[in-house]
Amino acid sequence: IIFKDSKEASILVAQEIADLVREKESQNKPCVLGLATGSSPIKVYEELIRIHQEEGLSFANVITFNLDEYYPMDKSNIQSYFYFMHEHLFNHIDILPENINIPNGKVRSEDLYQSCIDYEMKIKAVGGLDFQLLGIGRTGHVGFNEPGSHLNSGTRSITLDHITRVDAAPAFLGIDNVPRKAITMGIGTVLAAKRIVLLGWGANKAEILKETIEGEITSEVPATYLQHHNNTTFIIDEGASSEL
Ligand code: GLP
Repeated sequence: IIFKDSKEASILVAQEIADLVREKESQNKPCVLGLATGSSPIKVYEELIRIHQEEGLSFANVITFNLDEYYPMDKSNIQSYFYFMHEHLFNHIDILPENINIPNGKVRSEDLYQSCIDYEMKIKAVGGLDFQLLGIGRTGHVGFNEPGSHLNSGTRSITLDHITRVDAAPAFLGIDNVPRKAITMGIGTVLAAKRIVLLGWGANKAEILKETIEGEITSEVPATYLQHHNNTTFIIDEGASSEL
């Protein structure tokens, strides 16, 4: 769906999430949300905060799983996705801290493999993701599933693509400070979500969105795997749709 601007689109996405949270609450069930970082979802989070503050939407029945985290990365570091999520969403809503899940960027290397398995199991244990919000990176990554990621991949540690590190460099005040690794939910984890919404704003996403939406399904552009999913919507603005 192509929108004139990202604000209007983000309000609609937030509305869909709010409706799902309310529906699950009325069924006395938890609402399991997969969340993303980056600039793309910020307006969705702003609108969810507004709905919480002005319409009284409660997140007490919401369980969240974030897509990814840099590795190694301390929670208190302002570049961490832990920090980002608290700053842009969690500090402003009534979600229970024990219901927030973000890959642990500080786990010891010998425990890393098991912590990824545990993350995957935890998602399954609560019934899987009801809704997964995604952005897209210039390499065609979703989460940090860089080119070469397997269709059935689960949560794991990965090596970041050079382009991804270049894009992250400004936030880290130089590429030398960007971690070389990250922990990410897998393509298989994402595709198991019942509903997926990918956000793409601006002309610098136009080329990769064309490859993702119109291109052949290939591990070289992991986002193309979304073509396999039967309940995915790409919500993009005019700039991002310019190559379609
Ligand atoms: C990072 C994140 C992705 C995100 C991407 C795009 O690499 N790991 O989950 O989708 O950036 O970021 P932005 O939304 O700022 O363009």
